[in-house]
Amino acid sequence: MLPYGRPCLDESDAEAVAAAVRTEWLTAGPTVRRFESELGGYLGGVGCVSVSSGTAALHAAYGAVGLHPGDEVVTTPLTFVATAATAALHGARVVFADVEDATGNLDPAAVQAAVTSRTRVVTAVDYAGHPAEYGQLRKVAADAGALLFDDAAHAIGSTYRGVPVGGLADLTTFSFFPTKNLTTGEGGAVTGTDPDLLDRVRRFANHGMVRDPQQLRYGDEGGWHQEVHSFGLNYRLSDVLCGLGLNQLTRLPRFKADRARLAARYHELLADLPGLRLPERRPWVDPVWHLYPVRVLAGRRREVYDRMRAAGIGVQVNYLPVYRHPVFADLGYRPGQCPTAEAYYAEELSLPIHPDLTDADQDRVVDALRTILK
Ligand SMILES: Cc1ncc(COP(=O)(O)O)c(C=O)c1O
Repeated sequence: MLPYGRPCLDESDAEAVAAAVRTEWLTAGPTVRRFESELGGYLGGVGCVSVSSGTAALHAAYGAVGLHPGDEVVTTPLTFVATAATAALHGARVVFADVEDATGNLDPAAVQAAVTSRTRVVTAVDYAGHPAEYGQLRKVAADAGALLFDDAAHAIGSTYRGVPVGGLADLTTFSFFPTKNLTTGEGGAVTGTDPDLLDRVRRFANHGMVRDPQQLRYGDEGGWHQEVHSFGLNYRLSDVLCGLGLNQLTRLPRFKADRARLAARYHELLADLPGLRLPERRPWVDPVWHLYPVRVLAGRRREVYDRMRAAGIGVQVNYLPVYRHPVFADLGYRPGQCPTAEAYYAEELSLPIHPDLTDADQDRVVDALRTILK
């Protein structure tokens, strides 16, 4: 099966992992610090905390804000469930706002209509790697007295009006799962420019532990002493995986260029195919094409999905609107509440795209689509 996404790995990645192991610091060592520093630098000089997954990044980011039951988080339904589930796990009420038809990203006007005095966070997602409308979202969130988060699991390396994703929101979360633009196997990161907020992220990701002598409540216990001031978890990323991340980071510009070339080629090869709508790109963004999400018209998405899979082409659907997962349905969320996201989901099909996809692989995808849709 031709996969829709795949990590791009080579011998230098294996060497980088071996080098990290040879430092004998398996975790909490120098390779973690280097990865955080280089990643933060790459993303425009932001602060960076590495964590064990994109889900951990979101959970720790919400934890840093200190969400309480009754607080509201406004987000998009067109995302992986973790964007919302991690807020719900803190006891917050998740409020879904609809998306823009063109990009599948959170619609600032829908957010404006959804915020209340209880909104603590607005979380955008850079769907398929295309940055959301940060200019407008920042204003809507600030006017509501809320923080703006960017779930950039799809978008490491993308820019919005020349600014790298990672510094566009109060906190940005990344995933380094194998299908993402850069991988550490499992892994993630949180970035931002407010050192206090990032300190709280780091603390949540390390059991809520406090070691700074200035902050200790019982300062005269002894040199071994550390204290927990708020609950947290162990979400640390190991040196071994940070070694892989550091090496992947050196190739991220190449991964981005390869994905852009493949996206342009899909655009060209599929332009005249009836029954298909191709993804749009706003002129002010430079996305990393994590997904290539086409829209299959005339109610034929399921048929096209089934026939592509039968032909050995691993297409995917991203995403069932999050509130339609039974866990949200059981909490009283009703289908149909975000009609644009529902319509997007009903037509969406992600075609294979990753740096190692060959032109011959891509021609196979295009030919199969042509045969089905002709
Ligand atoms: C938009 C989005 N958010 C969060 C996540 C969670 O990331 P992870 O799988 O690293 O926990 C993913 C991963 O699939 C994602 O696509």
